[in-house]
Amino acid sequence: MQKEPSKKYRPFPPVDLPDREWPGRVLTRAPRWCSVDLRDGNQALAVPMNVSQKLDLFQTLVNCGFKEIEVGFPSASNTEFAFNRRLIEEHRAPDDVWLQVLVQAREELIERTVESLHGAKRAIIHLYNSTSPAQRRVVFRMSKDQIIQVAVRGAQMIRDRLGRLEGTEVTLQYSPESFSATEVGFARDVSEAVMEVWQPTPERKMILNLPDTVEVAMPNVYADQIEWICRNIRNRDSLIVSLHTHNDRGTGVAATELGLLAGADRVEGTLFGNGERTGNLDLITVALNLYMHGIDPGLDFSQLNAVREVYERCTGMTVPARQPYGGELVFTAFSGSHQDAIKKGLAEWKGGTQPHWDVPYLTIDPADIGREYREVIRVNSQSGKGGVAYLLESEFGIELPKDLQREFGPIANDAVDRLGREVSGAELKEMFWKEYVQRETPWALAGFETESRNGRVRCRATLTRDGAPTELAGEGNGPLAALVHGFTEIGFPRFEIASYSEHALGTGEEAAAIAYIQVKHADGRSRWGVGVDTNIELASVKAVLCGLNRSA
Ligand code: KIV
Ligand code: ZN
Repeated sequence: MQKEPSKKYRPFPPVDLPDREWPGRVLTRAPRWCSVDLRDGNQALAVPMNVSQKLDLFQTLVNCGFKEIEVGFPSASNTEFAFNRRLIEEHRAPDDVWLQVLVQAREELIERTVESLHGAKRAIIHLYNSTSPAQRRVVFRMSKDQIIQVAVRGAQMIRDRLGRLEGTEVTLQYSPESFSATEVGFARDVSEAVMEVWQPTPERKMILNLPDTVEVAMPNVYADQIEWICRNIRNRDSLIVSLHTHNDRGTGVAATELGLLAGADRVEGTLFGNGERTGNLDLITVALNLYMHGIDPGLDFSQLNAVREVYERCTGMTVPARQPYGGELVFTAFSGSHQDAIKKGLAEWKGGTQPHWDVPYLTIDPADIGREYREVIRVNSQSGKGGVAYLLESEFGIELPKDLQREFGPIANDAVDRLGREVSGAELKEMFWKEYVQRETPWALAGFETESRNGRVRCRATLTRDGAPTELAGEGNGPLAALVHGFTEIGFPRFEIASYSEHALGTGEEAAAIAYIQVKHADGRSRWGVGVDTNIELASVKAVLCGLNRSA
């Protein structure tokens, strides 16, 4: 890297807009959306999608509710042209979906593009040419006037061919490509020159798409550029101002959101942000960001996992684990304190006392987008007792008493730490079973009988102690008190039952019961024991023996 970067790089000039209004606004409704997955996203793939993959992804976009879909660059290749024809001839686009096609300002390309649209119900013809100083100087070697002429000629060639699309409702779109790196005044001039040709009206608007082709500045600068255009362009009411951001500086979503505040009506982007270099804007993030503020985005991502599956299959791309909303790990907490807070928040939400979602660490309810609560908590060595308890309860219905959670949490953490990886719910249950339920030495139960007389219970327990048969008998005000008494009768050091709880594991007659018992010894030590049996009395006796075994 440069020691003095200012010798190589320069700051981006701000827009002169001292009375900018966008910082004081809030978003209250969703924009119009246009997916450019099948064009901008596709052109950025090492192996572009074939026709059947494009059809698959197109159907998914339609299912998500997109009404404007840039389906390709039909003049660019036979595959692109053929895809357009299949969509139209096989009536794959619902009548309310606009098929958008991109074209440069060249006659033969415009010819082919118009041809590709014959028979379409609704089409958007999208003309672009690049306008920034670097593009003018390096790529086109053209003056500003010449660049305007390119745009105007392209606009005329399209206008002159519209008669060939009889029966097709056509909307025209123009993009001064590299808009965000273009002087705003010149971007306005070239756009107005195109408007002069297309003559949009408030009833028959054209789309003016203002691309952040390469993200070259902070998102507030893009917002200023959008507000400047909205305030300074002629006949603003005849335009649908559209945003098209890329993500070179990692702020494509922010630039789009601020651009909407600045007055734009429409947003172009892709699923999961696929696109050239660092990608296009991720439409899902912007839509669900609106949703989390209670605004209907007008798009349906309630099956986001399925959308991701189609996207990955068709594009060959992988959604990063931390991708907002869609990533594998975004509804997962590893830290114990987060897990604890989420558990409490979810319990409060289920209790119905809060009118609005306000669960710590979860911006939206994962269930709303087809993700599951059970994904929320996983356990690794960073997890606390809350995560461990949550998994045992949510996956197996094991409701550990609070004190037992405190005892088992560190035991589980140590075991997970030794493994050095995340563990599943099933593995946690196995650890729990090994530590508690399967502890049968020195004491194990062979038989237990009770009889009650006058409110007193007598018990006779057949046990083994390190494999050797042992009988004991005792009396008390309940079976457990009788058992404890029986132990003192054989000279076992005194202990008492400090806590007891039990519940059914599952339902039905054959359902097992699980008992949790805390055994407290005369020397102050206490240990939890757990017993499982279809007979609740036997489950409790096993829990006492387990507590003694764990103290041994
Ligand atoms: O990023 C861009 O500028 C584009 C245009 C063709 C709209 O994709
Ligand atoms: Zn683009």
